[in-house]
Amino acid sequence: MSSITPTSRHSLTRFLIEEERAGHIGPDLRLLIEVVARACKRISIEVGKGALGGVLGDAGTPGAASMNIQGEAQKKLDVIANDVLMEANAWGGHLAGLASEEMDHSVPIDDMYPRGNYLLLFDPLDGSSNIDVNISVGTIFSVLRCPEGVTVPADEHYLQPGTSQLAAGYCTYGPNTTLVLTVGHGTHAFTLDREIGSFMLTTRGMQIPAETQEFAVNMSNQRHWQPPMQAYVADLLAGKTGPRGKDFNMRWVASMVADVHRLLTRGGIFSYPLDAKCEAKGGKLRLMYEANPMAMLVEQAGGAASTGRQRMLEVQPTGLHQRVPVFLGSRNEVEAAVTYHRQHDAATA
Ligand code: AHG
Ligand code: MN
Ligand code: MN
Repeated sequence: MSSITPTSRHSLTRFLIEEERAGHIGPDLRLLIEVVARACKRISIEVGKGALGGVLGDAGTPGAASMNIQGEAQKKLDVIANDVLMEANAWGGHLAGLASEEMDHSVPIDDMYPRGNYLLLFDPLDGSSNIDVNISVGTIFSVLRCPEGVTVPADEHYLQPGTSQLAAGYCTYGPNTTLVLTVGHGTHAFTLDREIGSFMLTTRGMQIPAETQEFAVNMSNQRHWQPPMQAYVADLLAGKTGPRGKDFNMRWVASMVADVHRLLTRGGIFSYPLDAKCEAKGGKLRLMYEANPMAMLVEQAGGAASTGRQRMLEVQPTGLHQRVPVFLGSRNEVEAAVTYHRQHDAATA
């Protein structure tokens, strides 16, 4: 008689079944995450084709790239990734509706399919300026509950604070493809085993060190920043002999997914503050499908996430594509950045 010996590595499927048995998720949320993970595998394959697949460059016609609601030129892969996520999630019966960076408004699940209880928001391809130069990009997603009694959700039904997220995650398409997920019980990483086509659990319970000596910011915006950010970064740059008493290193991939993956792996602070260029819009990064899912993942890994003036997850959204300033990562460093804002605001009140 042969016995079945469990392998030491768990697949995402097994992990999710165990989360369901532990009472952390229900079967529909398990299906939802499986479907998103499958879509990410497809996106990973498309991204990996590069120039051979004809997937690089702008969407639209030559000289007239198509624009999304943000007024940003769409890359071919932005559109492909959006279509893959939409198609994968349309028919499973687990969702009531979807919203994406690349679509002006949310879309309810079509009448021809059953509608479920969840809302899915996503940035189908994050860091798309990096696509054509073969640097890591990713997908970010957030799951909310469809409000009680709502059968055809509209944009307003998505406007829930980040504390209401039931699950959040991202998938990074880099040297390897890694899915990082939380369902509110820790943050876990799954690496795609390309030979068997499954995501395998590679880090259970990621932990961001509270202290760091590494920061991520687009320094070319320095002259446009507000005074508290100017003061904060000036002190980081002053190093060992400055008020912070230690040297800092800087990294900026310009793919939020890649920058956040680095700080989840080895600590750090990521920031996209208000600057004179994005101030009128409220910031650069989008609350609902960039800042909030990353904030949940980071908090679940022991880190912190803030706008500089408020805990990110407590911001009450006012628009699907709303933008916010972002500071997230190592807890003590985020607290340091927040302190510069608090002191500046107190001095100028
Ligand atoms: P997206 O490609 O989804 O529009 O997001 C890009 C975002 C984020 O990934 C990154 O951190 C930031 O924009 C890069 O901004 P800069 O171009 O100012 O470096
Ligand atoms: Mn993005
Ligand atoms: Mn994007």
